[in-house]
Amino acid sequence: MKKVCVIGTGYVGLVGAAVFADWGNSVVGVDIDEKKIAKIEEGIMPIYEPGLDEVVLRNIKTGKLSFTTSLAEGMKDADMILICVGTPMSDTGAADLSYVWAVAKEIGQNLKKGDKYVVIITKSTVPVGTNERVKQIVREYAEEGVEFDVASNPEFLAEGRALEDMKETDRTVVGTENERALTVLREFYGHLDAPMVECDLRTAEMIKYASNAILATKISFINEIGQLCERAGADVGLVAKGMGYDKRIGRHFLNVSIGYGGSCFPKDVAALYKTSTEEAYDFKLLRSVMEVNDSQMHHFVRKIRKVFGINMEGKKIACLGLAFKADTDDIRDSKAIKIVRELRGHGATVSVYDPQAMENSRRELGDKDITYAEDMYSAVKDVDAVCILTEWGEFKNIDIEKLWRAMGSSKRKFVFDGRNLLDQKKVEAQGFTYFAVGKRTNGYNEFLLEDEEKRGFVTTALLKSQNGKK
Ligand code: UGA
Repeated sequence: MKKVCVIGTGYVGLVGAAVFADWGNSVVGVDIDEKKIAKIEEGIMPIYEPGLDEVVLRNIKTGKLSFTTSLAEGMKDADMILICVGTPMSDTGAADLSYVWAVAKEIGQNLKKGDKYVVIITKSTVPVGTNERVKQIVREYAEEGVEFDVASNPEFLAEGRALEDMKETDRTVVGTENERALTVLREFYGHLDAPMVECDLRTAEMIKYASNAILATKISFINEIGQLCERAGADVGLVAKGMGYDKRIGRHFLNVSIGYGGSCFPKDVAALYKTSTEEAYDFKLLRSVMEVNDSQMHHFVRKIRKVFGINMEGKKIACLGLAFKADTDDIRDSKAIKIVRELRGHGATVSVYDPQAMENSRRELGDKDITYAEDMYSAVKDVDAVCILTEWGEFKNIDIEKLWRAMGSSKRKFVFDGRNLLDQKKVEAQGFTYFAVGKRTNGYNEFLLEDEEKRGFVTTALLKSQNGKK
């Protein structure tokens, strides 16, 4: 059992605090936001994360988990201090480390001679070299003779499944400079049934970025394969399936989309690229990963423009899904939000629905020309087209016939499926003009095929064979 102080009650900090308490440790969560802390103590979580409120409340009740706004109080007698503050993207693409520096300084100021040995652990995603600087800052502000070490222990949890990810991690990464700190972390994580990668600080920091970057690369890769599949007449879903059975490749993160979003991939890929330029290296692959991701959303909107033209005034479009992915209310860097904005920019009237992200979206998008619907079938009432933007299970299970009826009497009914959630055969058989990502559909064949041929993307032979099939 360790005395643990967790600084920051965002995704990583709050989930971490709850899980560490569940493991039997005595945990204090620290956050400067008084209101946030008060709400957490009442069981109102600042984020939507399945099961989190229950674990937090249970551990508050048993006294293993408490919260404070005072760092001095939180870190009193702690064996481990975990830094879990945000590292948002700055204007230059680099990670903004101001919160990390501020916390390091405050930790230092509160470390007094005679305090017990403590390990300061960074869980926030931070660029290579950050932990060395954290150590210098703490040393600078701490009293002479204070005993502490710094460790890098990146977190690999994904939103929406954060509790499982933390409890059943695939691996634990611990970067330290000495055995004493390593022993503390080995004891802390020793009960987990997962390998522990022990390394130096810089390597641990790099492992986190490299992990997110390869996942983002897989997404951009499959999105590009999807672009090719549409033009060449193949089906990207089956391509991913066929590739995925190869254990060396794996099926995960090979789902085509409107591009990856969220608070991690866009920020971390950009930060890693920035690191590469600072190290006088041009990480070309990463540059392309970012470019492909940006263009993916535009390719999707282009399909809608092909149907309705640039001026969409008088057109009603429903957008299902606003969160950057399913099972979260998080809309940070959500491509769905960007698409709603673009459609509105083209003059369309947009109705939206998301199972969890309505409140956040209303705050972000405002009310002008947007209807916030109670459920998916109300959102699609009398619209000309439906866009599916987030991979929520409830959209996957949408009743196609009910969707058709709900859309009312429009002459033609269009579905733009940005996540390939729907069953193409069923949707087309119902009479919809359907567009998906990375495969030919009746909508693609009618509105895009010839255009692609003119642009030289599709060979004449392919076009002829496809026309024959129409
Ligand atoms: C990601 C990583 O998956 C976590 O391992 C990591 O710890 C976390 O970032 C972090 O650095 O904190 P998260 O951002 O919560 O987690 O979400 P993901 O499930 O990875 O999805 C990211 C984006 O990629 C979403 O927009 C999602 O829709 C998209 N995506 C994902 C695809 O477009 N295709 C896929 O096949 C998978």
